[in-house]
Amino acid sequence: MAEAARHDAWRAGDSYDLYMGRWSRQIAPLFLDWLDPAEGLDWLEVGCGTGALSATILARCNPRSLVSLDPSEGFLAKARANVADERVAFVAGDAQALSVESGSKDMVVSALVLNFIPDKEKALAEMRRVARNGATVGFYVWDYPGGGVEFMRAFWTAAKALDPAAADLAEDRRFPFCTPDGLTDLAGKAGFVAVDCTKIEMPAVFRDFEDYWHPFTLGAGPAPGYCMSLAPEARQRLMERLRDSLPRGEDGSIPMKARAWAVGAKIAR
Ligand SMILES: C[S@@+](CC[C@H](N)C(=O)[O-])C[C@H]1O[C@@H](n2cnc3c(N)ncnc32)[C@H](O)[C@@H]1O
Repeated sequence: MAEAARHDAWRAGDSYDLYMGRWSRQIAPLFLDWLDPAEGLDWLEVGCGTGALSATILARCNPRSLVSLDPSEGFLAKARANVADERVAFVAGDAQALSVESGSKDMVVSALVLNFIPDKEKALAEMRRVARNGATVGFYVWDYPGGGVEFMRAFWTAAKALDPAAADLAEDRRFPFCTPDGLTDLAGKAGFVAVDCTKIEMPAVFRDFEDYWHPFTLGAGPAPGYCMSLAPEARQRLMERLRDSLPRGEDGSIPMKARAWAVGAKIAR
């Protein structure tokens, strides 16, 4: 595992849901509204995590079938518990070598995953392989380079001020391709056609500081993984720095935004 990726812990579904699942559940319908798929299609979801997008596809798109795939058994267990629907199969798998028949899917989607895959070009080639002629491929990633996930940006800003080595672990440095140009370029190189990229932005408001801080102490994801790797005194200093620097609403809430870039494209053979 690359050094900067050592905190990418994708195991505990409960912890993930508190840190990221709460926001990925909110962005999933915005993505599907933009993609505007027909009903009755065969779907594949790559990197389903705890099932945020899977549940939204089932609720809004009336799929004929949905295979939702992830390498993390812990996340899959949580997804199966979260989403009970006979149209979905949650299966173990790797985006870089999909255990899915070629040319068998009408919709191939992926939410907040591409940047975590070591060989993203291979993953996109696999998404293309399993898609039917005329299929739609869609994916989205957070706007890391633009600091679009404000709760992460605030975390890493504070972390870097206390520990300059944290700069190499922050997602803005690790995932510079997560821009409209970078993503459109990747999609074009993968042979996708009619490539479109859009911004999806939503509020991410924390009730109070505890609501903001607690998920970072659960260890699921790069920033929480880093947080829990710190010695208790260093973690305390980081917590205090954040507590004293975050914006506050009149009611003590912490108003932030989260922004993603979404790509939609077609497969033509
Ligand atoms: C930020 S989570 C997103 C999960 C979910 N799609 C969501 O929107 O909440 C990243 C996910 O990518 C998965 N992942 C990491 N490497 C992967 C790979 N090589 N193939 C497929 N999924 C992968 C992780 O297990 C994790 O579930």
